[in-house]
Amino acid sequence: MRQLFPVTDMTAAADREWSLDALADAYAYPEGDDPWLRANMVSSLDGAGQHGGRSQPLSSETDMRIFGILRGLADVVVVGAETVRLEGYRPARAREAFAARRAAAGQGPAPVIAVVSASLNLDFSLPLFTEPLVPTLILTGAVAPPDRIEAARAAGAVVLIAGDGPGVEPARAVAALAERGLRRQLTEGGPRLLGQFVAAEVLDELCLTVSPTMTAGDAQRIAGGPSVAVPTRFQVASVMEQDGFLFTRYRRI
Ligand SMILES: NC(=O)c1ccc[n+]([C@@H]2O[C@H](COP(=O)([O-])OP(=O)(O)OC[C@H]3O[C@@H](n4cnc5c(N)ncnc54)[C@H](OP(=O)(O)O)[C@@H]3O)[C@@H](O)[C@H]2O)c1
Repeated sequence: MRQLFPVTDMTAAADREWSLDALADAYAYPEGDDPWLRANMVSSLDGAGQHGGRSQPLSSETDMRIFGILRGLADVVVVGAETVRLEGYRPARAREAFAARRAAAGQGPAPVIAVVSASLNLDFSLPLFTEPLVPTLILTGAVAPPDRIEAARAAGAVVLIAGDGPGVEPARAVAALAERGLRRQLTEGGPRLLGQFVAAEVLDELCLTVSPTMTAGDAQRIAGGPSVAVPTRFQVASVMEQDGFLFTRYRRI
């Protein structure tokens, strides 16, 4: 049997204070012109991606810190409409701590939020649509309801068509965002959307927080929908630990 390696020496790691800059460096996107789609998700030990309809009960202060850092590095945050509806999404903030880094990378002060929806059954009076620093994008299909497209545009959102039917084709969504200069892509789920990115083989990286909790029950896993024919392989890029939470990062091979 080949040797097994501990992924990290937790006693040594415990001595290190991770500043925001050090974490941002550790999670930097790869250089280059190609789009890079990263997902950030949290899961319980028994595979739940939510508890009581929210991911917050599985999360921690450090998890939310990394969540904020991943946003601070991204050009765009891609999110499914159900997560927007259930988690009460708000516009991304411009954070002083990221101002210089974002300016140097040619990024605006905050990432654009891109909501994926076929129905456009969204409350366009919410701040996500009426008060963002940069207009919120809606990714939808060519036969989305015209009255809802009009309502989205009237609220200030920008509607992008990325599919010939009612829905979005995942690879087209990635390409449409990249064409707008939004190369550093971050998806925050939910599971139904993430599953489609996995199945379309466009997910490059998964930042998975393993929460030291078990929930039982019938919660969704972090990725759903039809399964892939052959499991997609990822390799570990980094693992960090705090208070029993594992902050893992995997890249598609
Ligand atoms: N563990 C985590 O890290 C994490 C992260 C995010 C969310 N969550 C949890 O996940 C749950 C929500 O996730 P979910 O999987 O049910 O929903 P979701 O993926 O957030 O959103 C599903 C909705 O997105 C739209 N959509 C998805 N694929 C589409 C496509 N190809 N084309 C057009 N529209 C598409 C549809 O919106 P329309 O219905 O508007 O057409 C669909 O109903 C919540 O409980 C949330 O707390 C957990």
